[in-house]
Amino acid sequence: MKQRLEIAKVLHPSHHEGEHSLIGQTITVMGWVRAFRNNQFIALYDGSSFNTLQVVVDFEHTPEEVLKKINFHSCLAATGKLVASQGAGQVVEVIAETIEILGEANPENYSMQPKRMTMEYLREKAHFRMRTNTFSAVFRIRHGVAFAVHQFFNERGYYYMHTPIITGSDAEGAGEMFRVTTFEANKAPLTDTGEVDFKKDFFGKATNLTVSGQLQGEIAALALGKVYTFGPTFRAENSNTSRHLAEFWMIEPEVAFHDIYDNMDLAESFCKYLIDYILQNFPDDLDYLDKRIQEEEKSMAKDLRRPMGLIETLKFVVENDFERITYTEAVRLLRNSKPYKKGQFEYPVEWGTDLQAEHERYLVEKHFKKPVIVRDYPASFKAFYMRLNDTAPDVPGDTVAAMDILFPGIGEVIGGSQREERYDVLIQKMETMGVHPEDLWWYLELRKFGGAPHAGFGMGFERMVQFITGMGNIRDVIPFPRTPGNAEF
Ligand code: 4AD
Ligand code: MG
Repeated sequence: MKQRLEIAKVLHPSHHEGEHSLIGQTITVMGWVRAFRNNQFIALYDGSSFNTLQVVVDFEHTPEEVLKKINFHSCLAATGKLVASQGAGQVVEVIAETIEILGEANPENYSMQPKRMTMEYLREKAHFRMRTNTFSAVFRIRHGVAFAVHQFFNERGYYYMHTPIITGSDAEGAGEMFRVTTFEANKAPLTDTGEVDFKKDFFGKATNLTVSGQLQGEIAALALGKVYTFGPTFRAENSNTSRHLAEFWMIEPEVAFHDIYDNMDLAESFCKYLIDYILQNFPDDLDYLDKRIQEEEKSMAKDLRRPMGLIETLKFVVENDFERITYTEAVRLLRNSKPYKKGQFEYPVEWGTDLQAEHERYLVEKHFKKPVIVRDYPASFKAFYMRLNDTAPDVPGDTVAAMDILFPGIGEVIGGSQREERYDVLIQKMETMGVHPEDLWWYLELRKFGGAPHAGFGMGFERMVQFITGMGNIRDVIPFPRTPGNAEF
């Protein structure tokens, strides 16, 4: 291939002056056509930057068959001199001497068009949607958040731990797992009692795709001190919402000698770090997404619009403390709220039942107007591994040292807890919650030999990316969403 320059480099002001200035030099750029105006001006995009490079075509000296192939999203190489631009809107432009078409995109049968396309339509075109302004911005930011995750933990001395994707345990005890088997449907060997005989399966036992790397993360934390996982997790829950995926990525730090308060501090600073990293490093992409939302909201009723712009919201979250309340306080607050008194909540608010999305939204968006950390939930509906709290006055039942972080517009971004390190309490909880101790013998042994107080949490990576990009649907922040009824691409 010809030596090509990336558009981000060509556009960067540091390459426009001094002895290494690109201005006046003949360069080659390669990319896709975002727009072609007046048979003369190409806006060329190559992914290295949100911004396009203007390529000026010499209409009279360019062969007709090349000209007619300069279409929306066709791919080309342009060679010519880089000059300071005469026109407004760009600092530099390339005066093309030659244009070579690398990949045609005939508008007559190409499914993408240079006009507004709905998000639903674009989901069906996941092989092309990354070429749009919106999705290219989202996926550049997604990369940035992933990078910042590793940087945050690395700077603080955490070790990145790879936990298995195929496991024999249900870490959440919720039973929402995808089975992994090499048996053919209807041909699985059966036991004497007529059940599928997983002893004869590939791993010699029943296995599934992991719902969480936490339990193995705990093994690592009780040896290496501070660890985190960052990998795909799978949930066979039949939730068709804008916040659920069947395959999503989760970040799970696990820390020896942390209690629930250390856990909350770590989680809050982690959220702020990721958001701040994107504010600092992806301003062009964020700016586009911010304007896009403003545009979209013009046609919406005032009370449905966001109270602040996207960038303003992100800065607000970075600069302000999260609100911290207990579950018991949250219930009290909700029961004193206007929507509760007016009967506007669909679900009951009673101590001992889980908070529903409508309740979380009220707390975060109406009452506190900022991220909220709710802690000390009833033990009854939280996972078996969460640490049982001492009984407290004014609290009607058993609670665990659990915490959820709720974000405006998203709901739960993080769920975590201090872990139950006391063998007797843990085994008791497993038994009452129907988790078989024999399946988790190794988890129990961690409590018997060299156990330690420890805590951790899981952040839904896509939910965080959704918050940072302001995208309304979680399917639009993962390249290839897996949801009930959909595994295309
Ligand atoms: O609250 P969850 O279920 O917690 C755990 O899995 C713990 N083992 C984490 C830990 O303590 N190490 O899930 C953690 C986060 C949620 O707060 C949410 O952000 C996200 O994962 N999440 C999902 N994201 C997308 N689609 C789904 N179906 C999700 N389920 C959970
Ligand atoms: Mg949760």
